[in-house]
Amino acid sequence: MKTIVVGSGGREHAIAWALACSPDVSEVLCIPGNGGTAVEPKCTNVSANIHDIGAIVDACTRELSGTAEDSFVVIGPEDPLAAGLASRLIDAGIRVVGPSHNPATLEASKDTAKKFMKKHGVSCAQSETYTDMVDAIAAVHRINGPVVIKADGLAGGKGVVVAPGPEVAIKAIQDFMATGTLGSAGRKVLIEEYLQGDEISILAAVSVTPESAAAGTATIKPFVPSRDHKRLRDGAQGPNTGGMGAIAPVPGLDASILEQFRTDILEPTLAGLIAEKYDYRGFIFFGLMLTPSGPKLLEYNVRLGDPETQAVLPLMDFDFAHMCMAIIDGSLDSFDLRWKPGFVCSPVAVSRGYPLSYPKGLPIFINHDAVDKSGARIFFAGATNDNRSSNEGSPAGQLVTSGGRVLAVTAVGDTIDIARKHAYQALKAVSFEGMFFRQDIGLPGAAVSGNL
Ligand code: AMP
Ligand code: GLY
Repeated sequence: MKTIVVGSGGREHAIAWALACSPDVSEVLCIPGNGGTAVEPKCTNVSANIHDIGAIVDACTRELSGTAEDSFVVIGPEDPLAAGLASRLIDAGIRVVGPSHNPATLEASKDTAKKFMKKHGVSCAQSETYTDMVDAIAAVHRINGPVVIKADGLAGGKGVVVAPGPEVAIKAIQDFMATGTLGSAGRKVLIEEYLQGDEISILAAVSVTPESAAAGTATIKPFVPSRDHKRLRDGAQGPNTGGMGAIAPVPGLDASILEQFRTDILEPTLAGLIAEKYDYRGFIFFGLMLTPSGPKLLEYNVRLGDPETQAVLPLMDFDFAHMCMAIIDGSLDSFDLRWKPGFVCSPVAVSRGYPLSYPKGLPIFINHDAVDKSGARIFFAGATNDNRSSNEGSPAGQLVTSGGRVLAVTAVGDTIDIARKHAYQALKAVSFEGMFFRQDIGLPGAAVSGNL
């Protein structure tokens, strides 16, 4: 069977690898892929502009024409999902893992997501939405304490400001609503209650259609819990990033928390997707804060997390391609998601200057024998072959940096400490000029920020 992965990040490299592990998958095409997917066994990159939905539909149609009927496409990132790529592929008769346009707004609009959570009784942080800046600023003065300011639209991780008090909150509101730093994404803002606690991510497979809802087989199946480390520096200090590393499962997580997650968040979400008559066949990401009064949902993402995917997928004890087919066919409710014992630690190496500006085109040196010896695997993200504009085909060129988050090193161990040791051992075998990584991924407290 032929499969296609849309996207070019570390998450997409992990998805492509997971698909390629299936004996039933003959080929994985990555649109556009990266320098890592270019050399992954069974994988081939196909260049296309990720922002041009029509071009992606054309490429998928061309590549899948005449292939086995069970061929399918997995959409990795949020932007093409928000732009309606899944619906367009379904209309073109292509099987796809990724929610259609309407449910994709659960990530593309935080206001829509919050309305959904409130309507369907999902345990979440309290918030109000404002379209008028004067009203929003008045609300901040009334609260006169810590709040979280969120731009409504997709902002590539730049749309959330955790404010210790009115001064920072008002600056964020003015930036979003008056200066327009995020363009149309910041025209509406949410002012949300500030919650304290540990954060975890639960990724899940979803198979909900009006037909499966009627048959009683609509389902959401959670993966092992994981944790991102969003701050740039050790000890959860420095600016927020796209993610400096992930672990899975989360050590010491009480079973009662997962049970509360199931009853207060997962089940109401499933009931809501059914009630809205959505066609949601793909993945969902629950971003949770573990508060003293139970887990609260901070956000939905309508895709797998990055870098959580790079930590979670190596623990699969099932065939990822078969799971994708079960999502599409509506048989996910009887698909057994089994997980290997042990833990994964996956620190991310970034370019000097990230998350602000950073150089590109720097050669990446890897001692593959040393990486293999530590049992680790590298998932590439901002890495390309030579300085060419695309990674089409299967080049043998020099890998060079092309993004802020360059790669994640993923290692497995019986304990999180052993996984950590292997991952950091492998990172020693990787270098590029200005390479930076956190030293504390997987240490207790590494993801918890004590100060606002
Ligand atoms: P989001 O994109 O909504 O997940 O927000 C990005 C990050 O901001 C989260 O991972 C949290 O670290 C932080 N955050 C979001 N909402 C809240 C909240 N209500 N209270 C405290 N921190 C928050
Ligand atoms: N790791 C957070 C995200 O994927 O949005």
